[in-house]
Amino acid sequence: MYFCSMDGIKTEIEITADGSATLYRPDLDEHYHSVKGALTESWHVYVECGFLHRLAMSHELPLNVLEVGYGTGLNAALTLKAAGNDRVVYKSLELYPLDAWQLDMSGFGYDNADAMVAVNAAPWNREVAMSPTFTLVKLQADFTNCELPQDIDVVYFDAFAPEKQPEMWTRGCFERLFRAMRTGGVLTTYCAKGAVRRMLQDVGFATERLPGPPGGKREILRGVKP
Ligand SMILES: C[S@@+](CC[C@H](N)C(=O)[O-])C[C@H]1O[C@@H](n2cnc3c(N)ncnc32)[C@H](O)[C@@H]1O
Repeated sequence: MYFCSMDGIKTEIEITADGSATLYRPDLDEHYHSVKGALTESWHVYVECGFLHRLAMSHELPLNVLEVGYGTGLNAALTLKAAGNDRVVYKSLELYPLDAWQLDMSGFGYDNADAMVAVNAAPWNREVAMSPTFTLVKLQADFTNCELPQDIDVVYFDAFAPEKQPEMWTRGCFERLFRAMRTGGVLTTYCAKGAVRRMLQDVGFATERLPGPPGGKREILRGVKP
């Protein structure tokens, strides 16, 4: 089955190893998540190692999250669930937004299906209160040249792979993120390549290699702004 985004880009639904769904882009030969488990990857890399890790150390709320690559809304939905009553402003950049109805059809998430529907129904390019404490701002923008929000506490760096979209993984891109982050802010990504780790270190991040999600990649990366 093919779906089309607003720009006519075709995507296909695939069920991953943990039973959750992802989308596949035939033109790039690239999935939106790990085929070894979309939900497991999103939860581990971004929510557990990024959001909850930073929240546990945070003295100042709201926590400002910036996602690079909104995609299906899975990271946003899981974060909405995980945030509970803590105050969060979640901003997400996406150059090719998918239509909400296409995403609602895709059967993502099970116990977080309500959150998926809610985040995907939210309009683009404006602040939306998803709860009294969680603000969502989905921005249609090109990460490589847009103005970034400031005072970011958590970056979910969830671009397509470096070999598919090298322009997203440059030193300049990481430098812009570093500058936009607060001291103590964390960036996580599923990509643990040495070249990416060295770029993060080069622009000032202290980096850690962390174990990857169960059944998935061996390692992931976390960078902290000292
Ligand atoms: C790996 S997927 C993100 C998956 C997503 N975080 C989720 O939870 O479903 C990468 C996303 O980056 C988006 N993207 C590609 N180029 C971009 C750019 N220049 N600026 C912003 N987003 C971009 C793609 O359209 C895709 O949705």
